[in-house]
Amino acid sequence: MKNILHIISSPRMEVSASRKLGKAVVEKIKEKYPDAVVKERDLAKNSVPILDEVHINTFFTPAESHSSEQAEINKYSTGLISELQEADIIVVESPMYNFSVPVGLRAYFDFTSRAGYTFKYDENGPKGLLNNKKLYIAFTSGNIYSDGPHQIYDSNVPYVKNVFGFYGISDVTVFRAEGLSIPGIMENSLEKAIEGITID
Ligand SMILES: Cc1cc2nc3c(=O)[nH]c(=O)nc-3n(C[C@H](O)[C@H](O)[C@H](O)COP(=O)(O)O)c2cc1C
Repeated sequence: MKNILHIISSPRMEVSASRKLGKAVVEKIKEKYPDAVVKERDLAKNSVPILDEVHINTFFTPAESHSSEQAEINKYSTGLISELQEADIIVVESPMYNFSVPVGLRAYFDFTSRAGYTFKYDENGPKGLLNNKKLYIAFTSGNIYSDGPHQIYDSNVPYVKNVFGFYGISDVTVFRAEGLSIPGIMENSLEKAIEGITID
């Protein structure tokens, strides 16, 4: 039985393209693994706090020395990390927001990038601790970044791949619905991306 972690990040609800693309990816995975269990982590409905000094100090203080406030913060962060650890398959929706990811996804990375949990350092440098997992990225954007003159601004997908790669996840498939603001492309882009989903 497969555990799927479905990470949602668009602050938009009904009109969100990444929610539609990500949902279609999860549905396709469920066609392949009908008894898969899906855990949804909606970062817009339940936002992760913006990282501040209290959080950082918590993450760098051994658990046995935590204050009660730090213990709560640590519990929340390790809860998010447990969902990653338990997942066999991760689907992350990552729409382009101002050349980056929505702030909720950025905050999620701040709370899940933790030494001893998702990575560690050894004599060879950093080593990811989340192994044998498959990652699907559902990317949507107004412009086109996979090809053409704006390819140099393809800053979202490589970033998301880098973070998960740092966590030890290198088996990645990307589905893109791009050009969602470009007349002549926007009308069919999402539909085409959904039609093109194949699960290996
Ligand atoms: C606040 C905001 C910022 C955006 N920034 C960019 C951008 O930098 N580049 C781009 O190509 N599209 C940008 N877009 C377009 C979105 O990437 C596109 O609408 C995408 O489908 C958004 O995902 P969502 O529909 O799931 O919210 C932006 C949209 C919004 C609402």
